[in-house]
Amino acid sequence: MGVTPKIAPSMLSSDFANLASEAHRMLNYGADWLHMDIMDGHFVSNLTMGAPVIESLRKHTKAYLDCHLMVTNPLDYVEPFGKAGASGFTFHIETSKDNWKELIENIKSLGMRPGVAIKPGTSVEAVYPLVEAETPVEMVLVMTVEPGFGGQKFMPETMDKVRILRKKYPALDIEVDGGLGPSTIDMAALAGANCIVAGSSVFGAPEPAQVISLLRNSVEKAQLTY
Ligand code: DX5
Ligand code: ZN
Repeated sequence: MGVTPKIAPSMLSSDFANLASEAHRMLNYGADWLHMDIMDGHFVSNLTMGAPVIESLRKHTKAYLDCHLMVTNPLDYVEPFGKAGASGFTFHIETSKDNWKELIENIKSLGMRPGVAIKPGTSVEAVYPLVEAETPVEMVLVMTVEPGFGGQKFMPETMDKVRILRKKYPALDIEVDGGLGPSTIDMAALAGANCIVAGSSVFGAPEPAQVISLLRNSVEKAQLTY
């Protein structure tokens, strides 16, 4: 048995003024997780949402809130996000070279699932110690665009990292994020990604449910090949 496909619409592409109904809409369309892009205007130039928004959304849904922290000081966010009801807490290795052990411990102690993200320019070796640690991360997010904005073009060159990770860690959750949709999913799925973030391709589709099921089918089919 391999890892399970998780399709995670990125709420960055939703109508923020109607976040709860957008979340329900995506779950009804078959989403497994809701991907929440947290940007601090410093690690990336864009500014999105913080723990109060997670807390508000949590009152409307029990869904898995897959929080992707594009922030300079992730440690400062662990407690507020844990209390707000975040499910997954994925920090960037670029910000956390010196304190990732402490981060992972704190994330777990607040009942969240720890993940680590890498930007397109960061080499995959950077995450090995975190996956192999005594208290390891439970997911690696390989960014397939430069973090900061939705609607960018998928970078195929990032697939080498996914392939290497899948070969090395057959049971690891590997997430891809940025530019995923019907025309790029097969590349990511065949490389070994099982957690698929998709913003504009899902929210922009006339029938988002069809895109969600296409993404899932691609992952399931690819899993038979590795
Ligand atoms: C980019 C974010 C992504 C983004 C993906 O920094 O991390 O989650 O919303 O959006 P699309 O699927 O439109 O590239
Ligand atoms: Zn993201």
